[in-house]
Amino acid sequence: MLRACVIGWPVEHSRSPIIHRYWLAKYGIDGAYDKEAVAPDALAEFLGSLKRCGYVGANVTLPHKEAALAAARVADEAAVTIGAANTLWLGLDGDLHAANTDAYGFMRNIDAEAPQWNEGLDAVMVLGAGGAARAVLFGLIEAGVPRILLANRTRARADALAKVFGPSIEVIDWEKRSEALGACGALINTTSLGMTGQAPLDIDLAALPADAVVTDIVYNPLETKLLSEARARGLTAVDGLGMLLHQAVPGFERWFGVRPEVTPELKAHVVATL
Ligand code: ATR
Repeated sequence: MLRACVIGWPVEHSRSPIIHRYWLAKYGIDGAYDKEAVAPDALAEFLGSLKRCGYVGANVTLPHKEAALAAARVADEAAVTIGAANTLWLGLDGDLHAANTDAYGFMRNIDAEAPQWNEGLDAVMVLGAGGAARAVLFGLIEAGVPRILLANRTRARADALAKVFGPSIEVIDWEKRSEALGACGALINTTSLGMTGQAPLDIDLAALPADAVVTDIVYNPLETKLLSEARARGLTAVDGLGMLLHQAVPGFERWFGVRPEVTPELKAHVVATL
């Protein structure tokens, strides 16, 4: 039996088991996907014993994403640039390999839900400068977006990201986020604002062009205030759950040998647990 797991601290909240167990059942694979609560000071030892524990690989969630990258012997370009890994597997040589599939998940989701999002696109706006923003910026730049306006409450964090990700990033003041939307074909919220228990994201969408796409990486609730305001204006709104579903695809394929599909049935299955 092939076994994988998600490693976190805490790990109880992780939705990854719901996704991977759904696919294991759907494709009739003799496999398992467990939750492993591992404290930060025990991570290196745990990763060193993955094989002994019977695992072919793992997902990594907070707070281990940076440490997992550091522990890996081989890492893909996304993980190195983003500075964090979310997917691990053991190579034939037993070495630990790391990838970051968050950028892939974000891009596949927006491509699937709003296929025209980058037609004739000049600029997009990204809100936030945390780990999620790094993944989104990597994906957007790889997709060839020419200009990215980046706004974060703490401007210094956005300035630091502009240094890492280069000249396509133009940092703007957090207070200017609404007025700068006129130039943007897409707006992407990567902050935690709008999440259950947090304040909503306060932004005036009036300046956005009529064909703009608004996407939120928050998926709890699925329909954030940002997304319902976008829909009310007739804009295309893309929720954050699809990113979570798509980022799981490469890991599942790597561990279990089948490339799984992201379907409306899977989405409904996960939504029922939110
Ligand atoms: P993640 O790794 O999930 O992206 P993070 O690094 O904690 O998480 O980043 C959270 C993001 O939400 C940051 O951009 C943060 O802004 P700061 O860099 O100024 O902290 C943003 N954020 C959280 N609460 C916010 C608030 N009340 N107003 C504006 N931005 C907020």
